[in-house]
Amino acid sequence: MTDLSPSPIPALRGPVPLAHLFLHSLLRDGDRAVDATCGNGHDTLLLARLVGPRGHVWGFDIQQQAVDETGRRLAEAELAGRVTLLPVGHEELAEHVAEPLQLVLFNLGYRPGGDRSIITRPETTGSALEQSLQLLAAGGIVLVTVYPGHSGGADEQLAVEGWSARLDPRAFHCWRMGQTNVTPDAPYLLLVQRGR
Ligand SMILES: C[S@@+](CC[C@H](N)C(=O)[O-])C[C@H]1O[C@@H](n2cnc3c(N)ncnc32)[C@H](O)[C@@H]1O
Repeated sequence: MTDLSPSPIPALRGPVPLAHLFLHSLLRDGDRAVDATCGNGHDTLLLARLVGPRGHVWGFDIQQQAVDETGRRLAEAELAGRVTLLPVGHEELAEHVAEPLQLVLFNLGYRPGGDRSIITRPETTGSALEQSLQLLAAGGIVLVTVYPGHSGGADEQLAVEGWSARLDPRAFHCWRMGQTNVTPDAPYLLLVQRGR
């Protein structure tokens, strides 16, 4: 018998579960999505589940270890066939993905449990964000988890926020979602939607 009981409301402890809540409500079977920063593969796995058997996900990371870990996670869930994993920087996004995209996900900073000196950088992040906008379907969304707190994080925050603030409000809907009862340098979520 199909279980119709509602799934439990997730604990919104920080921007990542909030981003996942958006992914659940936005993505449909057959959609195309990008994980611009695979890291340990948790986000890629969720994207692969949500785009369904007719959809596709492209996953980028500059660390081979991150790509391997993501591939292992996908294989374990028998979802590797829905994902193209690329051991290259997201600044090469447009060369590898097929448009239009419904969603592009960025989880900035360093890989948890990995080398903390390997971080996303303002120039490459900026280039990938700009390319993402060009590839988005009407109504498509870019989600960015921003981490101002680590070394180099504040510069990246300035670049990413400046970029979103300069987008034409007639063409893009830009949101910043942060918790009020945490330190000012706590991570938060940016959302940019291409208008219809
Ligand atoms: C916070 S982690 C991502 C966490 C991941 N989404 C997860 O679910 O575990 C950030 C990742 O961005 C990667 N990264 C840094 N610069 C990059 C670039 N130019 N292109 C793609 N990935 C990059 C790092 O190697 C790191 O694995």
